[in-house]
Amino acid sequence: MALNYGELTYVAASRFKDVENLFFFKGDIASTGIKEGVIDFTVCDQVIMHTEIPEKTFEHLSSITSFKGEFACYVYSKKALPRELVDDYFRKATHDISAEKMWELSEQLTILGKNLSDLKVSFTCPNIPLLGIKGGDYDIQRFIYWNFLKCFWKEDWGFDLSKSTNFDWYAPSNAKRFSKDEFLSMANDNKLIVAFLHEEEACYSARFSKQ
Ligand SMILES: C[S@@+](CC[C@H](N)C(=O)[O-])C[C@H]1O[C@@H](n2cnc3c(N)ncnc32)[C@H](O)[C@@H]1O
Repeated sequence: MALNYGELTYVAASRFKDVENLFFFKGDIASTGIKEGVIDFTVCDQVIMHTEIPEKTFEHLSSITSFKGEFACYVYSKKALPRELVDDYFRKATHDISAEKMWELSEQLTILGKNLSDLKVSFTCPNIPLLGIKGGDYDIQRFIYWNFLKCFWKEDWGFDLSKSTNFDWYAPSNAKRFSKDEFLSMANDNKLIVAFLHEEEACYSARFSKQ
């Protein structure tokens, strides 16, 4: 049976009920109600981009982190321009699309990803900096995926998990992407120091410390 995240809060709380000082709360991370400067380690993994104003949420989460404490955060990265334009356009449209239609779209994108991947075609793309397309050797499915349209397919995850991954990307109306500079400036604006930075094609994540 599939559980939603709300139910998962109760499942987690019951599994760890023997740990005395561990508590699970369900709420809006943009406004937790937690006092300023009391949390030694704040983690926000893959959620901040889905809030209405991620910069405000970032400010709130860094404000509840204690002096000398750490705030770990993950954001989606900005991709090539054509992919960003499609994603931005589509996010607005998702307000008016039913869940059923979103699942249909996710299925179509998964089939597209699988069919492209099955071609097993690789080619070399030149650098196209004005469109943010990085040159190099690409598999055709990965090329379309990174630069034009999220048509996720991963053979060893299978069809349903690949489909859920496509759904998970296109369904939320809010899913802001950040450049590295934008991510680091949010930290700077909140007087946080970078203790560790991880970057990859899809995301940036960091542990920031509060000095
Ligand atoms: C991509 S999932 C990440 C979930 C989990 N952190 C993980 O890494 O597997 C995004 C989650 O953010 C939650 N979410 C979106 N907006 C939120 C908000 N304002 N407050 C709390 N959770 C939120 C969604 O319900 C969803 O479960």
